[in-house]
Amino acid sequence: MIQLYWKNATDKVVGADHGIAAGDLSSIGDRMAAAQQAVAGQVLRGELGYAALPHRRDYRDSVMALVDKHQPRCTDLVVLGIGGSALGNLAVQAALNPATWNLLTAAKRKGPRLFVLDNVDPAAIRDMVDLLGRRLQTTVFNVISKSGETAETASQFMIFRDLLRRRLGEAFAGHVVATTDAQKGTLNRIARQDGYDTLVVPDDVGGRFSVLSPVGLFSAAMCRIDVDALLAGAADMARRCAGPDWTASPAGMLAAIKYLMYARKGKPMHVMMPYSNRLYLLADWYRQLWAESLGKAVSRQGEEILVGPTPIKALGTTDQHSQVQLYGEGPNDKLTVFLEVKKHPRDVRIPDAFGEIPGLGYLRNQRLSKLITAEKVATEYAMAFSKRPTVTIRFPEITPGAVGEFFYLYEYATSLVGELLNINAYDQPAVELGKKATFALMGREGYQDMAKEIQPFAKVNKSYLV
Ligand code: PA5
Repeated sequence: MIQLYWKNATDKVVGADHGIAAGDLSSIGDRMAAAQQAVAGQVLRGELGYAALPHRRDYRDSVMALVDKHQPRCTDLVVLGIGGSALGNLAVQAALNPATWNLLTAAKRKGPRLFVLDNVDPAAIRDMVDLLGRRLQTTVFNVISKSGETAETASQFMIFRDLLRRRLGEAFAGHVVATTDAQKGTLNRIARQDGYDTLVVPDDVGGRFSVLSPVGLFSAAMCRIDVDALLAGAADMARRCAGPDWTASPAGMLAAIKYLMYARKGKPMHVMMPYSNRLYLLADWYRQLWAESLGKAVSRQGEEILVGPTPIKALGTTDQHSQVQLYGEGPNDKLTVFLEVKKHPRDVRIPDAFGEIPGLGYLRNQRLSKLITAEKVATEYAMAFSKRPTVTIRFPEITPGAVGEFFYLYEYATSLVGELLNINAYDQPAVELGKKATFALMGREGYQDMAKEIQPFAKVNKSYLV
């Protein structure tokens, strides 16, 4: 099971100004207990949709039925989506399949290549159109949109639907799996009209909390990832987080540390730094979860409070040679969470060479797993040396179960921090405003007034161009 190690975030290691003392924890004990009671109560009453996902056999079965249908003839799976409808898919695939997945032979993969578009960059989309040209017959498009009208996903979908129709004629609908609201919405309507296979984005689960729903499960299962183990890991973490004693819960401790660092220790920057390429996109997923859930202008009572820790991603060891100078010597305004792997999925021994050169010989016959762990400990030490608090989430191995645990851990911790900050962690008004502004700029009917308001931003004022 994954574990949280927080000694290096304590006053004993980084001093009382930057570290957490027993008194800090007890000072928020009552608030933490109330937050835990509130969130656990919401889970029990079925009010937190994401918390039910690890146990939803119906969603899991609907996904596997479509995997059984599409996997045998599918060489390429393209996920059309953005934000919460893409980042989980990317994170799961990166963590649990090799980085070289799309380059492996079909016999080795035993599942399709996976492309998750997550943008409307014109060159990237054109490249994808060209690449798929010859393989369209065996390509499946999984269009994912809860609202069904997000401009990025809608435009990706329109481009590939048109391509499919032109190339495959009436058979095109068999190449689309639409993941959207079960009852309503534009994509739901189109799916019924065109006759696509469909999967459900649960009504009560926001995009950033949806990775363990059909949103994340379909591409994972198509690419041979054990989604049962993923869900079982999340269920295990749910059990560990459910009890009233928040100090015994990884999510409870993570939330308390993050909150104290943010609110009391002057640390508004929350870095996630995996020492594993495979876990790097978990940090991307975390950035969205943390930013959209906790960055809020108003409290639940409607008072302006402007809160939210800034999530940052970094990669060990790569960013030791980039960001760590700033983290170690710049403003002491960051909490860094390392992700550490005890047993990496694969390992390499450094050859027995250069024994006569002291500057290189020490490396011979050592394993890269030992080197990457030593680098992490070295960074932890250097950060502690300059009084920078760090926490480590330890993965025994990178398995579907551990990744499922990680998702639930962060989702639940997000709910707890939302309680402590007294905000609604489940809406995203600023994202919605941006979506509406895009509609207005692109000429959507009904958004003319907004388009007028935005005009000054669409025009470049030359007097400010240098
Ligand atoms: O987490 C969120 O709510 C957002 O990031 C959405 O997932 C994203 O905007 C895509 O929305 P939709 O799934 O409605 O197309």
